[in-house]
Amino acid sequence: MNIKPPASPHLQAGSLAMPLSLKINGRQYNLQLEPRVSLLDALREYTGLTGTKKGCNQGACGACTVLVNGERINSCMTLAMQYAGKEITTIEGLAANGSLDKLQRAFIEHDGFQCGYCTPGQICSALALLMEFEKGMPSAVSPDISAEKFEFSEQEIKERMSGNICRCGAYVGIVDAIRSVMENSAKNQIHETVHFYTGR
Ligand code: FES
Repeated sequence: MNIKPPASPHLQAGSLAMPLSLKINGRQYNLQLEPRVSLLDALREYTGLTGTKKGCNQGACGACTVLVNGERINSCMTLAMQYAGKEITTIEGLAANGSLDKLQRAFIEHDGFQCGYCTPGQICSALALLMEFEKGMPSAVSPDISAEKFEFSEQEIKERMSGNICRCGAYVGIVDAIRSVMENSAKNQIHETVHFYTGR
């Protein structure tokens, strides 16, 4: 699908805009972007996907977290041009058929937010966390990094979510929400999630 870029301060007369095709939430966006445009600005300014938020714009807060091929990144710290041919997932890609994703529901049920500004990044990060855990990837607090599986503890959740800052301090609810999804998801549901968001 050919998406016409909206008027943007990033696209000025005489600019060096180049064609770029990005696959976002399963949909192809054909854009004209200058090479200097970050993935975050490409999402917000050129595709109309404003669910991904700009907080610090320097890799410190996690508000801009999205998934690329199932792995989380800070979209403010990377150039959109790097992501041609990759599967990009934003918060808009989680709900399906009018139903919220289980993580979105859990954040609501466990009061995992107050103002909500950091929430899209928190949820995308939490989704990646679940997949990392499922794949047996250790964190800085994992007792044995050679182990194939880790105990899904509060400490692990806090460490693995430490790149996502919440100024309202809704951390207790965030941890509860993630823990509830992990505890209530059958093993095969996590496998399905990994498959869906990585396309593999
Ligand atoms: Fe990207 Fe803060 S806006 S890390």
